[in-house]
Amino acid sequence: MVVPQPGPPERVTIYEVGPRDGLQNEKALVPVEVKAEFVRRLLAAGLPVVEATSFVHPKWVPQLADAAELMSTLVADLGDLARNLPVLVPNERGLDRAVALDLRHVAVFASATETFAARNLNRTLETQLDMFAPTVARALEAGMDVRGYVSMCFGDPWEGPVPLQQVVAVGTRLLDLGVGQLSLGDTIGVATPGHVQALVAAFTAAGVPLDRLALHFHDTYGQALANVHAGLAAGVTTYDASAGGLGGCPYARSATGNLATEDLVWFLTGLGIEHGVDLDAVVATSDWMAEQLGRPSPSAVVRALLDGAAE
Ligand code: HMG
Ligand code: MG
Repeated sequence: MVVPQPGPPERVTIYEVGPRDGLQNEKALVPVEVKAEFVRRLLAAGLPVVEATSFVHPKWVPQLADAAELMSTLVADLGDLARNLPVLVPNERGLDRAVALDLRHVAVFASATETFAARNLNRTLETQLDMFAPTVARALEAGMDVRGYVSMCFGDPWEGPVPLQQVVAVGTRLLDLGVGQLSLGDTIGVATPGHVQALVAAFTAAGVPLDRLALHFHDTYGQALANVHAGLAAGVTTYDASAGGLGGCPYARSATGNLATEDLVWFLTGLGIEHGVDLDAVVATSDWMAEQLGRPSPSAVVRALLDGAAE
């Protein structure tokens, strides 16, 4: 008997992480006004969700020490549009800072491995959840929407391959705490399509509906788009990406740029999948950001389109 396969989705949500995942890893300190302009331009390019910054400890991520100033600037400028931009909060202290600005979307970020939980959060696999439980509970009580990241889902630079069930265990604990969407992170870019399908299938087998999942790829090994293709075939409809392919994690050895938003947009357009994003506007934004950072974008699509425009 032929089992009918679901076709690719008609529409995908691109969750832009450039201002947060991108800029958290830049050596240069980017002025707050440049960050605000980056966010404004990304919104103007049609990106439906733009993760703006992190309320983490400023000593841990000095690049985002201006989180409150950035969000105040954006709220003064854009009002509710800015209050709806998601921000990372690892703990109740971070949540307090988001509540003080009346922000409405926060994300906690867990690790699937013991080593990265220690390095990124100064916690164990178990105590990271003790930190998230009151944070998520209070955020939900305040009427906020909470996303939950899981890092090192496909491999860890210190521990090597990560068992599927270890990832599912952390992810389902976050869902049990009340997070709305789980973003499964390939922090160091080692995932391949078969592994993506196996992980999504493991979550499905654990009873997690596909619409609760998002995929977050880094392009270290050039596999990010192939991995998106596997995610689409498995029925996942939210993908994280970073304008110009900026990004990485300061606490993960070998975490390079995220999947570039432009590469994802080009790919989805080719498949006839709606995304609502103006490619030229994102490319112009990444070109402008590259000037601010003093180095060209690593995105193949950005380079090709800018070279074409220059001919
Ligand atoms: P800790 O040192 O254990 O903190 O760090 P603590 O709870 O012991 O508190 C120590 C002091 O820090 C206290 O101050 C707190 O108030 C203060 P004191 O009383 O000593 O004066 N503090 C804070 N200050 C401001 N904002 C806060 C905050 N929290 C405590 N939120 C902590 C624990 C979680 C804070 C630390 O480890 C941290 O900030 N880690 C963040 C690391 C990070 O941001 N990594 C990058 C993001 S994750 C990522 O990129 C992966 C992702 O993209 C997905 C993927 O690719 O896989 C999401
Ligand atoms: Mg990341």
